[in-house]
Amino acid sequence: MHTDDSLLNQFNHHFEKINEALGKTFSSRIPLMNNIGNHSLLGEGKRLRPLLFVLSSELCGYKGTDIYKLSTIFEYIHTASLLHDDVLDNADLRRKKPSANHLWGSSAAVLSGDYFYSMASAMAVDCKNFQFLKMLTDTTLRMTEGQIMELSHTHNWHIKKEEYMEIIISKTAILISSTCACAAIVAGAEKQVVEDLEEFGMDLGIAFQLMDDILDYISCEEEFGKPVGKDLKEGKITLPLIYTLSNLEETEIERLEDQFKNQKANDEDYRKMISIVRNDGVLEKIRSEAKEYIDKASRILNSFPESQVKESLLALNAYMITRQF
Ligand code: FPP
Ligand code: MG
Repeated sequence: MHTDDSLLNQFNHHFEKINEALGKTFSSRIPLMNNIGNHSLLGEGKRLRPLLFVLSSELCGYKGTDIYKLSTIFEYIHTASLLHDDVLDNADLRRKKPSANHLWGSSAAVLSGDYFYSMASAMAVDCKNFQFLKMLTDTTLRMTEGQIMELSHTHNWHIKKEEYMEIIISKTAILISSTCACAAIVAGAEKQVVEDLEEFGMDLGIAFQLMDDILDYISCEEEFGKPVGKDLKEGKITLPLIYTLSNLEETEIERLEDQFKNQKANDEDYRKMISIVRNDGVLEKIRSEAKEYIDKASRILNSFPESQVKESLLALNAYMITRQF
């Protein structure tokens, strides 16, 4: 697959200001919290959500001076959710580094997730914008629902595509969607513009997670920053596997479910299953579905006049299906 992570270089000036704002907003009088913050929040991270917020607000004509600080709200929520997610998944690796739960234990990871989420809420309250606040609380509620749905479907080899889509929309796309919509809200945009940005973020967010689930089958750990085949190991039946299973006999699905669910599978069985998915043609099919979401997102921006920032958003949108990590 074609790699195009250099595409993000054009946003380096934004990344610097986002990182500066994160550095300014984050500090704790508690040494443990500072250590986890330096590791999980200030360390690695693509900063895609803050970048989307900055670009979307500019597209909507934001005139204030707080945009980078406000953009960090979405990185705080994202980081909080990953800290919790890694505890749920018992994951040892995140963003190419040992996870916080691996280094400091689950209790510290959960509490620091709570801390970051509370910081995001405090900063959002400071905005004194009820619509903004409402969107954020609706978003975190929905993200939590997404995780609960995902948990309910762990090791469910009969999960339907519709159920999978509901999970990825809730756990991932909704935050990206509200990032874009909130940017329009703080810019004082009209209702239709807020809705357009919400839909733009939703389509881009769906494409993002579809690609994440493809990369889980094909990337390498050094690039992706987390182990390949992690979803299957965690009992997460994502779209690549759902499509592959749709070509198998029911008895074979039952056999595989029993094998992987009840710890009867060894490393070779995992390798084989991953290779079946890789060679089934389903990954290309999903990639073209992701492309359809990207194209739909691009079309939404047609209603905005031509500008440099619109080009930037279109480039970032296109990046979602070429990214390698
Ligand atoms: C990673 O997905 C996890 C998420 C996108 C969402 C996690 C959400 C919560 C824990 C609930 C909300 C929590 C807060 C604090 C608002 P993934 O498991 O597919 O990705 P991965 O492979 O990188 O772990
Ligand atoms: Mg996870």
